[in-house]
Amino acid sequence: MVRVALVVTATLVALAIGAAIFVGSGIYNIGADDHHTKITLAIIEQLRERSIAVRARAIEAPNLEEPARIGAGAKHYAALCVGCHLAPGVTSSAIRAGLYPHPPNLAQQDTRDGQRAFWTVKHGIKMSAMPAWGKTLDDAAIWDLVAFLRQMPAMTPETYQQLSKSPAE
Ligand code: HEC
Repeated sequence: MVRVALVVTATLVALAIGAAIFVGSGIYNIGADDHHTKITLAIIEQLRERSIAVRARAIEAPNLEEPARIGAGAKHYAALCVGCHLAPGVTSSAIRAGLYPHPPNLAQQDTRDGQRAFWTVKHGIKMSAMPAWGKTLDDAAIWDLVAFLRQMPAMTPETYQQLSKSPAE
């Protein structure tokens, strides 16, 4: 029993020393123009998925079908999000090319899970360019954005332009 405990402790200490040497050596390239290794990426993705899923579960969504909400969301989206996430008729931007993780193209992504989108927009995602919009927008404005995100993939460029430019009600 004592011997097993000793082997386990020695292994853990060796792993901790190995990790410290790896980090201290600076060998890992943190530059955004280089991709993560597969294992780092798999760990980060799992961490992000689980973290968001657990936190988004208890959120209650309001009615996301209201046209006024969708229109208000379109205006916020055009002002704050399109550079990173694109839109109908907007297929590139200067900032997007160099971002890693690469922002998803939300004009082509089905945002069915409103709670998940709300949590992500409000709190952002660490070590990515996704900001925590809860620092500048209230919950109602974030729900407006989510209502718009859900409609955007089915929208024509003309409808997007109209919605995002028409004066706020
Ligand atoms: C500076 C760039 C940038 C801006 C501006 C930005 N985002 Fe993001 N966003 C990102 C990145 C990068 C990710 C992906 C992060 C990751 O994969 O870990 C992301 C992820 C998301 C996701 C999660 C998508 C998914 O697949 O789960 C949503 C929803 C989102 N953003 C909405 C918005 C909205 C709405 C706005 C504007 C209010 C916005 N973002 C502004 C960079 C940005």
